[in-house]
Amino acid sequence: MTVGVTTDGATPSTGRRTGRHWLRVRSAQRLTEDAVAIVLDVPPPLAGHFAHRPGQHVTVRHRIGGVELRRSYSVCPPPDDATALRLVVKRLGPGGFGEYATTALAAGDLLEVSPPAGDFRLAEEPGAHHVLVAGGSGITPLLAMAAAALRSDPACRVSLVYANRSAASVLLAEELAGLAQAHPDRFRVLHVLSRESGPAAPPLSGRIDAARVPVLLRLLGVEPEQRPCFYLCGPLGLVESVGRGLADWGAAEEQVRFELFAAAPAADPNARPAAPAGARISVRLYGRTTELTMEPEDETVLDTLLRALPETPYSCREGLCGVCRTKVVAGSVRLRRQYALSEKALAAGYTLPCSAVPESAEVGLDFDA
Ligand SMILES: Cc1cc2nc3c(=O)[nH]c(=O)nc-3n(C[C@H](O)[C@H](O)[C@H](O)COP(=O)(O)OP(=O)(O)OC[C@H]3O[C@@H](n4cnc5c(N)ncnc54)[C@H](O)[C@@H]3O)c2cc1C
Ligand code: FES
Repeated sequence: MTVGVTTDGATPSTGRRTGRHWLRVRSAQRLTEDAVAIVLDVPPPLAGHFAHRPGQHVTVRHRIGGVELRRSYSVCPPPDDATALRLVVKRLGPGGFGEYATTALAAGDLLEVSPPAGDFRLAEEPGAHHVLVAGGSGITPLLAMAAAALRSDPACRVSLVYANRSAASVLLAEELAGLAQAHPDRFRVLHVLSRESGPAAPPLSGRIDAARVPVLLRLLGVEPEQRPCFYLCGPLGLVESVGRGLADWGAAEEQVRFELFAAAPAADPNARPAAPAGARISVRLYGRTTELTMEPEDETVLDTLLRALPETPYSCREGLCGVCRTKVVAGSVRLRRQYALSEKALAAGYTLPCSAVPESAEVGLDFDA
């Protein structure tokens, strides 16, 4: 195993960075009982490959019991080095990458990582008031975005509402406090703790529901006529509640951007439309075109692609991360559910194979477009 060796291709036509690399863990530092901060060493020849924008995420591949897991983690650089590839991984339950990272991973180990991807970012509006709402590990892209904005735009303001179960589970609390200390007039954090009462009376204790949103915004001095942009990140429940609260408060849809870290399982199995077996798929990937046919056991277009093209990019398989994004260049597909593509991307013909089933007998996809 060699650190930094490319193990698959690249798409020179689009600039989409592909390939995966073994990177050495420089440090693995416990943050809370169930979270760890991992800094990865990027060898100089790969520095361009792993350069990241605030809000982007990488895909980590890890094998447990012979089964490959692919998991997305947002890049959250430490305060003293905006270029560092630091991931903050929270353990959610037994058996996943989070458990491995928080119990076994150590400095010197190797991790297989794909380069940064994703389009979650702050609007480029100098002097804007950016309002962020994070739940749990959803702080990672938002902290990266907040720190970069405060550094690069001296006129901007950033307000953050950060929801956690308890004070002990707040991630990166010292770094958030440090940012507030460095920018006392421009950065404000409200911690909302769902399982703690006591000195933190409502609205700062209990769960954030839609009704609480206007109260929190008032505390932060955010008014509808300022037309701020909102950035939400965390699990589906939080993002949906806050989204509803913002709509009731008067925020227009285009003022709200979000990234989901976890979706609810599809409640109704019938909501999963049967994929039409026999549909023919022509796919251009890494400059090569391959013709495939959907088999009866394929639930999505991604299943068909992976049988012949194991290097097809994907991570979550739930329409969350956008890693599998590709363009439909012939025929049409229907998306089961998706949270990663904007209306603009959908209108431009982009789709997510992990969630797509063909609507036409022939479908053309172009990952390089
Ligand atoms: C774009 C993107 C960026 C992300 N960035 C980060 C990040 O910076 N840091 C981070 O920690 N995570 C992040 N995630 C989530 C991450 O990709 C994994 O989904 C998460 O770490 C769980 O993976 P796992 O392998 O540990 O657990 P899994 O293998 O998925 O599950 C292991 C166990 O945990 C339980 N479990 C899984 N999810 C939940 C849940 N939401 N609540 C309760 N129990 C659960 C399962 O039931 C199972 O028992 C991101 C996700 C996306 C889509
Ligand atoms: S693999 Fe994550 S959106 Fe398709």
